[in-house]
Amino acid sequence: MSIITDSNNTAANTNTVLKNDLLLRALRGDTLSRPPVWMMRQAGRYLPEYMVLRRKYDFFTRCQTPELVCEITIQPVDIVGVDAAILFSDILVVPQAMGLEVLMEEGKGPSLPMPIKSIEDFSRITVPDVSDKLHYVMDAIKLTKQTLNGRVPLIGFAGAPFTLLCYMVQGKGSKTFDEAKSFCFTQPEAAHQLMQMITDTTIQYLIAQAKAGADVVQLFDSWSGLLSPADFEIFAMPYIKQIVEAVKPHCPVIVFAKGSWYALEDMAATGAGIGVDWCIKPALARKLVGANTTLQGNFDPAKLMLSPAEIKKEVNKMIDDFGIDKYIVNLGHGITPLIPVDNAKAFVDAVKEYGAKN
Ligand code: CP3
Repeated sequence: MSIITDSNNTAANTNTVLKNDLLLRALRGDTLSRPPVWMMRQAGRYLPEYMVLRRKYDFFTRCQTPELVCEITIQPVDIVGVDAAILFSDILVVPQAMGLEVLMEEGKGPSLPMPIKSIEDFSRITVPDVSDKLHYVMDAIKLTKQTLNGRVPLIGFAGAPFTLLCYMVQGKGSKTFDEAKSFCFTQPEAAHQLMQMITDTTIQYLIAQAKAGADVVQLFDSWSGLLSPADFEIFAMPYIKQIVEAVKPHCPVIVFAKGSWYALEDMAATGAGIGVDWCIKPALARKLVGANTTLQGNFDPAKLMLSPAEIKKEVNKMIDDFGIDKYIVNLGHGITPLIPVDNAKAFVDAVKEYGAKN
């Protein structure tokens, strides 16, 4: 494995040489002996070591304490052997920083007691100075980069504006986000104003993450697949595009818009790496994004309940289908709490063994 100096890293306090830079090279399109592998939600409830900290500290205390963020972020690197760390945090720290109360309730997921219902509610939110309101995230990135000491790259992230609007308007998780979508359709001016405020905050936020040391950032549009292709063009794409264009000069960006396979071509045109879920054939994803885009995905997390031997077989097939170059092995969505750690390891090991085979 080659050792490079991470010359693009603008972090003031981290001048570390990355010992494993597979993720960055995959995003650059270099020829590799195997693709890099990481898992969405890899820092989470399937890990007993995470559960120990979860019993001791509530969710936002975990997010706001740099030492805890650092420990939780590095757990899957130590335990599962992934090729990248993703910062432990949540997309909902942005609505919080904009002025909305966000609660994470045991067994119920997120809730926002006073959601946005009309333009009158905008008096309760602002575009904050992220270096003040989200200072703790940047502190956590600096500490984590220092502690990783170049073992693997660190991924920062944010929620895309449509997905954050879903929570800010609906006020809680939902399978349909019907109220949030109705808000977009019946009060489009308010929806666009809200998403522009989220966009302005997110651009500042992701650039600050890159400056603090994040090597790559991922934009999660977890609910954009609830929009028709035409509505995606109106309510999701313009904001994704603004964010990628503003952040790309600072670090590589990956866009994961779950369910929005119909927009792969437009998203790839932004120059970002593109995450895909399991509802698209690898060959079609490649055809839609073209030859120059790095794809990421798309293992169905429920398949991690197969035996380790079967997982390895499925991973081999997936890499055969996507090809080694311009590809990042990942799940098609987050890992779920019931997955045995050994199965997560089998997933990662299969990718490493694929490299050994070639
Ligand atoms: O990927 C990682 O390991 C990094 C950490 C991370 C979390 N949330 C930690 C978390 C990331 C990248 C997120 C992103 C996030 N948060 C998304 C986008 C990705 C996706 O899964 O679609 C969304 C939609 C959220 C909002 C959110 N946060 C929900 C709906 C929930 C409750 C559901 C759930 O999975 O428990 C959370 C809580 C949350 N965020 C947990 C973790 C580890 C579980 C908290 C706990 O109970 O310990």
